[in-house]
Formats: sequence, C-alpha cells, structure tokens
Amino acid sequence: LKKIGVLTSGGDAPGMNAAIRAVVRKAIYHNIEVYGIRYGYQGLMEGNIKKMDLGSVGDIIHRGGTILATARSQEFKTEEGQQRAIEQLNKWGIEGLVVIGGDGSFRGAQKLTSRGFPCIGVPGTIDNDIPGTDFTIGFDTSLNTVLEAIDKVRDTATSHERTYIIETMGRNAGDLALWAGLAGGAESIIIPEVDEEFSNIIHRLERSRERGKRHSIIVLAEGVGNAFEFSERIKKETGIETRVTVLGYIQRGGSPTAQDRVLASRLGARAVELLIENKSDRMVGIRNNEIVDNDIDDILSGKHHLNKGMYNLSKELSI
Ligand code: F6P
Repeated sequence: LKKIGVLTSGGDAPGMNAAIRAVVRKAIYHNIEVYGIRYGYQGLMEGNIKKMDLGSVGDIIHRGGTILATARSQEFKTEEGQQRAIEQLNKWGIEGLVVIGGDGSFRGAQKLTSRGFPCIGVPGTIDNDIPGTDFTIGFDTSLNTVLEAIDKVRDTATSHERTYIIETMGRNAGDLALWAGLAGGAESIIIPEVDEEFSNIIHRLERSRERGKRHSIIVLAEGVGNAFEFSERIKKETGIETRVTVLGYIQRGGSPTAQDRVLASRLGARAVELLIENKSDRMVGIRNNEIVDNDIDDILSGKHHLNKGMYNLSKELSI
C-alpha cells in the first residue's frame, strides 16, 4: 500500500480533525502517502485533492470542524458521480480511502467498495446514531455543550420559577437528549425512541408543582418534533407557560473534549491499519473500550439502540 486518501463527509463533528491527524500521521509512520480530499465526495468527484504531510495536520487536534471541509453531495448518489470519483482516485494513484462521517457517508463508501475500491469508515457525528460503536466522534463534545446550556438555563429557570423546554439535535436519535437530560437533571426527557403519552409528561409537571417545585427543565430531541409546538400544547392543556430554547448549531462546534480526541486518534489510526491489512468495507468503532471493526453493510442495515436502562433511570431520578 503506497497511497491512501482521507475525506470528511456529512455534518461536521468536533474531533474530526483529531481523526484526520491520526490517519495522516499513522500512514506516514508506515511510509504511506496521504491525500486529503476536500468537501467530501463532492470534492472527490471534482478532483479537489492535495497531498498531506506531517505539518499539514499540526495544530489541529484541539480544533472543532474539519480542516478538509465537508459537504452533502447529491451528485455522488448517481452512477456517473461514482464513476467520476473512481476515475479521480485512479488518476491520483490512491489505493484506499478513509471516510470520516455518519451513515450517509458510509453509504457513499459502500458504493465505492461495490465498484472494487477499498474503503474504511470512521464514525464521526454528534448524533451517536451509528450501530457497531458505543460512541461516535463528536458526541461527547456536543453532549457537554448541551449540558452547559442546560445548566445555564437552569439558573434562569429557578430564578423566574418557569418551565423551560430545551431542544437538542440528534436527527432521529435521542442519545444527545437522553445523556444531557440525565446529566442535567431534567424533569422530562422526550426522545423519538420512546413513545411517551403526553398525559404522562403533563402529569409529571403538575405533580412537581403540587410538591412546591416552581421550575422545570424538559429536554426534547429534535426527532420528536418542534419544541415551539410542544410548548403551545402544554399551554393549551395546562395553562402552564413554557419558554423554549432551540440549541441549534452550537452543538456541532467547539474544541473537542479529551474523550473525543482520544477516540478519534484511536479510530483514525485503526482505519489505516485495516487498509494496510488489505481490509475493505469495514467501519471501526469502540465497544467496551476496545477498538473493533464491522462490515459496513451490517452497520447500514443495523440499528443503533438507545440505552433503555439509562432512560428508565432518568425517570426514576426525576420523580
Ligand atoms: O447529523 C448531525 C446533524 O447536526 C443532526 O443532528 C441534524 O439533524 C443535522 O445534522 C442538521 O443537518 P444540516 O447540517 O444539513 O442542517
């Protein structure tokens, strides 16, 4: 193996830079040349490719975002787009590709491997919604950003004796909301994986008011619906006024936590080892603190499972 490529694709996540650094440094350590592909698959099709050296990944381990930039490409979903990508890879003499991103990015990798091009996936998304790994790169940083926001909202909630709804990202997954809600002591955590009766949520609110509690924090995952509509519904059914905070894109930025940097370093380096071992169509992940790899096809047909025990615990602790 002489030349590999690396790209980031889909939504950015804190720690992607640490993963790029690990890929580049690990490959160079093994005398393999590394080519950075900008703007994900879009840049790949357009030949937006540049050779990287040890210095090109210096001073990035602590930076959020991705120095390679990212995109969500529609064109790459077409046969012609994939053909163009393969042509570029051949033109540059690249023999294997590390794809850092989420499930959409792995679907892209699957297309390339089905055309005979070796790819290894590295899970990077704040959503923590990928099967085959306990954690994705970026989740821990994002979680801490959400937690900091909950703590701040709590200060004003107690001062004004109000009920606040905080909407988190996560696409169709409730992990961010669940972990942040548990860590932030939220009264209610509303996530797509659990179909909780609206009356239960109301009942909890009213019960805590009866015992004299005048403020409440509800964490709502975006996958459940719109926080403003939810707020209206509470008002209509109980007369209780709620204030809404939609956290939005701040959840995607910021300097990665130690946890994310270490995870990214371990996963990025392992991805290079797999290419050296002539493996393809695998996604690296972490299970019980061990680095593992799984078939990308299984990852894409599998389902990420929310930790139900944690959800139940959050209920027990917020009575
Ligand atoms: O997948 C990461 C994520 O931030 C999700 O949590 C969110 O639903 C989505 O991306 C937003 O996508 P976009 O960057 O296209 O607005």
